Amino acid sequence: MSTTSSLRLGALALCIAALSTLAACSKTPDNTSVDARTSTPDQIAHGRYLAKAADCAACHTSPGGAPFAGGVRLGSPFGTFYGTNITPDPVHGIGKWTAAEFYKALHDGVTPDGQLYPAMPYTSYRTMTRADSDDIYAYLMAQKPAAVPNLKPDLKFPFNMRFAVMFWNMLFLKDSLPDASVGTSADWTRGKYLANALGHCAECHTPRGAFGQMNGAKALHGSDLGRVVPPDITPAALVARGWTGADLQTFFATGISRQGPAFGEMHPVVYLSTQYLSPGDLRAMSVYLLGDAPPPPTPVQPGSADAAQVAAGRNTYVAVCAGCHGLGGEGKPHVSVSMQGSSTLRQADPHNMLVAMLDGVEASAFPGTESLQAMPAFAKTLNDEELAQLANYLRLGWGGQPGDVTAAKVKALRDAPSH
Ligand code: HEC
Ligand code: HEC
Ligand code: HEC
Repeated sequence: MSTTSSLRLGALALCIAALSTLAACSKTPDNTSVDARTSTPDQIAHGRYLAKAADCAACHTSPGGAPFAGGVRLGSPFGTFYGTNITPDPVHGIGKWTAAEFYKALHDGVTPDGQLYPAMPYTSYRTMTRADSDDIYAYLMAQKPAAVPNLKPDLKFPFNMRFAVMFWNMLFLKDSLPDASVGTSADWTRGKYLANALGHCAECHTPRGAFGQMNGAKALHGSDLGRVVPPDITPAALVARGWTGADLQTFFATGISRQGPAFGEMHPVVYLSTQYLSPGDLRAMSVYLLGDAPPPPTPVQPGSADAAQVAAGRNTYVAVCAGCHGLGGEGKPHVSVSMQGSSTLRQADPHNMLVAMLDGVEASAFPGTESLQAMPAFAKTLNDEELAQLANYLRLGWGGQPGDVTAAKVKALRDAPSH
């Protein structure tokens, strides 16, 4: 699992002058406090479940480090952020905080020491209920304190001006996130809470504007964050790649479905978070993504193409890919994944497929005892033309996409600054 996540955040300070007259929009939470010592085992257990669903560990537990002791490095175009120590240590962690202060951090991004950067996704956690925040607080306060000092973010000017985030918040901190699907059922409503308030799916899957803010008009339409990019997960896009509610549940529970594995930054989302959701919650999240009346999944329509182009791609596939993915693209259980039905191949934009071919995919553990070996990188063994032909063979044969990948497109991705 990679230790660096990429985030794209607000270009905070640019709008200060224009905004300094606006009134703060944040609501001040009430002051009721929950004392960890009086919290019940049920509350702590529920807090543990919520902390998994909200994936606090992804940014607050370093691989090999003490739980929630911080130090996770988060790259962004604005510089580097570090997840902080949120253990009950009174000096380095949040041991002196009240439950009300904790809620204010999740809801407004404001701590007893000042303003947090939106690298901490309070833009999503803002919709979390006070009761759920209190349960997460009770759970964290029941953890072992770790005396691990925090690392200061290393940001470029003007993003290093913490106070400017206040102005960013006035403009962009919203009380609710827009929906990409339509529904009113109990599952849909629960799924909305799971995806938005807890799972903060929109932080990666919604494109961002010039100030790093989520573009609400394009909720879950996919973004250009990171090397493997988060695809469009609106209902229309999901069914166009063959997803059903049952497949989504399998994907979130196990990390591997008929559409392929969770890889790139989606892998830790499944591994650290969604695999722990109850079957009912997984169903609810899938209902929220597809809506109460999901359109039927679209079958793959193989494209027609110029025989010479397909033959060249086919030869490369047989020579270097078929050993693992099968001559007919059928994959091998526990060894590799299927190319037939792969949602990566079915994306209109070949970006993620080309990145998988150029960079390979690291060996990954999946929930339970499943694991997959690494897929090798082919950047050094195949040239741009060979990779383009191969990509077009895969798109036409199994992706239902046109064979329009050019060598120039491959070269651009090969040369792109990594991460
Ligand atoms: C995407 C990464 C990410 C996730 C997920 C995340 N955090 Fe954070 N969190 C951060 C970063 C980065 C900071 C420090 C921000 C800064 O320097 O302003 C932070 C800061 C905090 C702080 C302030 C600590 C202090 O000492 O000021 C608290 C409290 C906190 N997070 C709690 C949580 C909880 C609880 C969860 C899960 C519900 C969570 N975070 C999930 C990235 C994350
Ligand atoms: C840290 C960024 C990040 C977060 C947070 C995140 N995703 Fe993803 N997601 C990705 C990336 C990158 C991919 C592409 C790689 C892949 O398909 O596994 C992806 C892929 C997916 C896919 C597969 C799409 C396809 O057609 O192959 C689904 C479904 C999905 N995410 C749903 C979610 C949901 C639901 C959440 C919230 C619980 C979520 N994601 C949170 C980054 C993220
Ligand atoms: C040594 C075995 C091996 C070889 C050779 C190999 N792959 Fe893979 N491939 C894998 C495995 C295993 C995964 C899944 C890795 C994971 O998610 O942990 C994978 C994942 C992928 C993915 C992304 C996941 C998806 O479902 O879309 C694509 C695309 C892909 N391979 C295409 C290719 C192509 C094209 C070639 C030939 C250039 C190739 N692979 C060669 C083993 C292999």
